[in-house]
Amino acid sequence: MEFIFFTTTALAIISTTVVIFVTFIFTSNSQRRPWKASSAVVVKKCLLGSMGWPFIGETLDFVSCGYTDCPQSFMEKRSLLYGKVFKTHLFGSPTIVSTDAEVSKIILQSDANSFVPSYPKSLTDLMGESSILRINGCLHRRIHGLIGSFFKSPYLKAQVTSNMRNLLLKSMATWKEDRPIYIQDETKQIAFQVLAKVLIGLDPGDEMEFLMVEFQKFIAGLMSLPIKLPGTQLHRSLEAKKKMVKLILKIIQDKRLNGTDTISQVSKDVADVLLNDKSEKLTDELISDNMIDLMIPGEDSVPVLITLAIKYLSDCPKALHQFKEENLEMKRRKEDLGDPLCWDDYLSMPFTQSVITETLRMGNIIMGVIRKAMKDVEIKGYLIPKGWCVLTHFRSVHLDENHHDSPHQFNPWRWQDKDMNNGSNIGFTPFGGGLRLCPGLDLARLEASIFLHHFVTEFRWVAESDTIINFPTVRMKNRMPIWVKKEK
Ligand code: HEM
Repeated sequence: MEFIFFTTTALAIISTTVVIFVTFIFTSNSQRRPWKASSAVVVKKCLLGSMGWPFIGETLDFVSCGYTDCPQSFMEKRSLLYGKVFKTHLFGSPTIVSTDAEVSKIILQSDANSFVPSYPKSLTDLMGESSILRINGCLHRRIHGLIGSFFKSPYLKAQVTSNMRNLLLKSMATWKEDRPIYIQDETKQIAFQVLAKVLIGLDPGDEMEFLMVEFQKFIAGLMSLPIKLPGTQLHRSLEAKKKMVKLILKIIQDKRLNGTDTISQVSKDVADVLLNDKSEKLTDELISDNMIDLMIPGEDSVPVLITLAIKYLSDCPKALHQFKEENLEMKRRKEDLGDPLCWDDYLSMPFTQSVITETLRMGNIIMGVIRKAMKDVEIKGYLIPKGWCVLTHFRSVHLDENHHDSPHQFNPWRWQDKDMNNGSNIGFTPFGGGLRLCPGLDLARLEASIFLHHFVTEFRWVAESDTIINFPTVRMKNRMPIWVKKEK
């Protein structure tokens, strides 16, 4: 979901110029140059900022800040000079950056008449035409609604809880004390399998292995150059997608044959939910395409959330102690009753949820989202011209001391006694908002809670030193190696 692709720190900065020029030539945004048409209006409304160099704008500075441990410094410098909402030019598009929580909230709440999602060309090439990430209007609302309510259903929560626990315990049984465990890799393996079960009901086995391998080839191309010729990354990714679609189409057709699409039957996965929808528009092709596109936001985000939580807890012994106590107490209580933990049990551990919330705030797994203005839109006196991109930068708001005291300090206690469900906290939007609010937010919290519960109650560990990389996506530099000891 991030929108920039570079791999290694030093090399990327040097090679950026070349990439940007090529990107400029190939992206459709750059061909239309919408800022020419509306620039007069911008000047009139005094939206300040610099458009940087011809063609590359301020992209180089944005990228080099991204590689530091303070990627929001690009925004901070400009906010001081121009105000919390400013204009710039990034990745071939004239862009307005919002670090203002209120402005960002209004943008997120707007419908497709004002703003639509904007992704790099390579990403839109790989997503289907009817991908939930791309479509707007009625069809989007219906698919988003169907998926969102399924992800909130008691059936799904019970299924994920037991599936995740089984996968986790199987994986933990292989952990050895004489070699490091790479938390980032472990969480990735487990989260993918949970997701494949949730989406298409797939169990571990050959098809799961096949899907995992092809999906890795597929995502490698999400932010590559938009050239589809054989031998290019984008071409390889499209080929991988074709193979995945073939498998998923077969699964969907089997479901149809076995009569999943009857009203009386309970939907066991997202594919069932979409098959059970009576609309003509949800064809098998649309459903299978969407199953893959749903893996894009779901596949990497949860492993990163879990990995970062373990990193922050490892660095904060006081929080770790309280987290462990709360989870051990819950474990003892459930053992006495002879029951496994259910979703409500995880939710009822307030400190555990506060740690996850604080990890989302500090970690900024999705640093922000990009929208494109469909018409001139005025928000709080700022005019966003038609055709411009807007980057609503969550990270700047999450690390803004006007919204969060000592924002760079990991402090889960700050969330105690705060109601996270009333939507009033405009300074905290890790899952976005409005019509495109992440439908996977409960699922993400549930998976993180389950992993962390078993991890802290069954192991002690020493984490090797590792650092968080924030660009182009958030991850640990060394995949977060830890040495574990089984608790007696
Ligand atoms: C820590 C974990 C996660 C974070 C931080 C996260 C964050 C986000 C954000 C910020 C958006 C809004 C994008 C936008 O406004 O354009 C989003 C959308 C979305 N997320 Fe998540 N997400 C997470 C996990 C998941 C999971 C597990 C799934 C499950 C499949 C999921 C599925 C989606 C989908 C389908 C959308 C698109 C919604 C739409 O455009 O209507 N996410 N996510």
